Amino acid sequence: MNRSELTTAIKKRKVGKKPPAAWIFLQRWAANPVTMGSVCPSGPGLQKLVRENLICGPDEVVVEFGGGTGALTKAILDGGIPDERVYTVEIDTKLAGYLRGIYPRVNVLHGDCRHIDRMLPPSLIGKVGTLLVGLPMVILPKRMQAEIVDAIFRVIPEGRRFLLFTYSFTSPLDMKALGLKGTRLGWTPVNFPPAYLWGYSRA
Ligand SMILES: C[S@@+](CC[C@H](N)C(=O)[O-])C[C@H]1O[C@@H](n2cnc3c(N)ncnc32)[C@H](O)[C@@H]1O
Repeated sequence: MNRSELTTAIKKRKVGKKPPAAWIFLQRWAANPVTMGSVCPSGPGLQKLVRENLICGPDEVVVEFGGGTGALTKAILDGGIPDERVYTVEIDTKLAGYLRGIYPRVNVLHGDCRHIDRMLPPSLIGKVGTLLVGLPMVILPKRMQAEIVDAIFRVIPEGRRFLLFTYSFTSPLDMKALGLKGTRLGWTPVNFPPAYLWGYSRA
């Protein structure tokens, strides 16, 4: 291969090469800083915490709110949940397309997680073993927080908790106002910024 052919091949590879997840995440953050809530995807410490706290019975599925570039979808899959039993909800069109590209067998639901009961197949209502919230709840308006919490309790089994990660040391949700009880399940410095995983159930 001569020098000119080599240059053409490199250019072609650059065009065909997928941009890294962190770059896509940053671009989507620049477009929608409030819905994204963070400048970069979750890291390995948070992925480990998520894996350790997954519950999924034999007839259950796992649902993620806010798939982003799939960092926590990966944690769910690495936790042993088969792709077909993972549902990730993503409001951003570009990110939903990206998720479909990297996880073709995962169920990517493009839309607003507040409508989860209409997005899931009816047979899965009450069969959501783990529901993981990856939204920037702490910066969302109180009314939206309440709508998201109501939507969660419409699909998880009675008495089950849901998971929520946050960068804030204190509860990102006003437990009294939302009728919740919550526990800090763990925290990790191996994330940027350091993150906490909370579990919430009805008070
Ligand atoms: C902080 S990012 C988390 C991404 C990923 N889970 C991670 O940990 O790297 C929040 C994601 O939630 C999505 N999102 C925000 N509001 C949403 C909503 N109402 N329904 C579904 N997805 C939403 C954003 O587009 C963004 O991808």
